[in-house]
Amino acid sequence: MKYSDWDKGRAEFSQLGLGTVALGMPYGLDNAPPPCDADCIALIHRAMEAGIHYIDTASAYGRSEELVGKACASTPFEPVVCTKITVLPEGDAPSLIPNFKKQLEQSRHLLGFDTLPLVKLHSQQGAFTFPALFEAMIHFSELGWVDRWGASTYGLAAPLHALSFPDVFAALQVPYNALDRSAASDLFPQAKEAGIDIVVRSIFLQGLLSEPVNRRLPPTMSPLANALSIFKGTAADAGLSPAELALRYVAYQEGIRVTLFGSTLIEELEQNLRFYEAGPLPADLVELIQNIEIADRDLLNPGNWPPHY
Ligand SMILES: NC(=O)c1ccc[n+]([C@@H]2O[C@H](COP(=O)([O-])OP(=O)(O)OC[C@H]3O[C@@H](n4cnc5c(N)ncnc54)[C@H](OP(=O)(O)O)[C@@H]3O)[C@@H](O)[C@H]2O)c1
Repeated sequence: MKYSDWDKGRAEFSQLGLGTVALGMPYGLDNAPPPCDADCIALIHRAMEAGIHYIDTASAYGRSEELVGKACASTPFEPVVCTKITVLPEGDAPSLIPNFKKQLEQSRHLLGFDTLPLVKLHSQQGAFTFPALFEAMIHFSELGWVDRWGASTYGLAAPLHALSFPDVFAALQVPYNALDRSAASDLFPQAKEAGIDIVVRSIFLQGLLSEPVNRRLPPTMSPLANALSIFKGTAADAGLSPAELALRYVAYQEGIRVTLFGSTLIEELEQNLRFYEAGPLPADLVELIQNIEIADRDLLNPGNWPPHY
């Protein structure tokens, strides 16, 4: 596993990170319930033993913070644990500090940190900053509750907006995968220039990219179904599973510090480690992926998918 310095020699980012929303609440294509607590903790322990030292959680992920906290308390590893905080709209600015206090108190308690290493503003879109938000962030940094701040965003407008505040945001988390590649052209190089780390999520599009067989999608999702079918044909022609092609495409992309994947199964975790160890894809395969286009880009955001199919 490759690592990069995160905290002046005190901590390191691993190139792969574990996402834990599905360990804390029903989630994903089938809205499947999480595994039992012992299996969740075993999965997190195995990830850490294998060198994954970046764990992504959020106050909004059901029991995820509690389970990540229990897993961290029972290993010698000290991963960078990133949690997220839900932000009230600007109109509720007077409630911001008490609301952050409640969320951060709970995250510190459940995760077992006096100082949370990295807290991201959760699911920001468009231009999301306002003075009271920065005041609240500074307040909790000064209290020593938060070491560094970041933002987890949708679309390109929000992370590009955040780049204007390199003293505020240490890391930006964005969706990125073999079909949703738009962040690579502008955001990644500009973030590098600003000294802001990029963490990517949704590398398997909640499993649509990694499933061996295409599931039947409703007619409104046919542009996505067509792109998935070309992607899986490309994987088959290359003799790789779709999951391997999807992971290796993202993990070695220039400009990404951490590639997150979600998994509820140790077997998938082990597979993903093997895929990662296989190294970057050959250039001709990368080019084939980059030629796959999707007719309706809105379908790359799972939030726009119909609820049941
Ligand atoms: N707004 C936000 O900040 C935001 C939004 C979404 C996600 N996130 C974070 O990002 C993490 C990852 O996102 P995600 O879970 O939506 O997407 P993802 O990593 O793109 O997809 C997860 C899905 O991929 C499947 N999978 C994993 N490894 C596989 C393999 N080797 N073979 C086949 N399938 C495999 C998993 O199956 P199983 O379920 O069967 O294991 C799961 O269904 C989350 O856990 C969360 O921490 C943040």
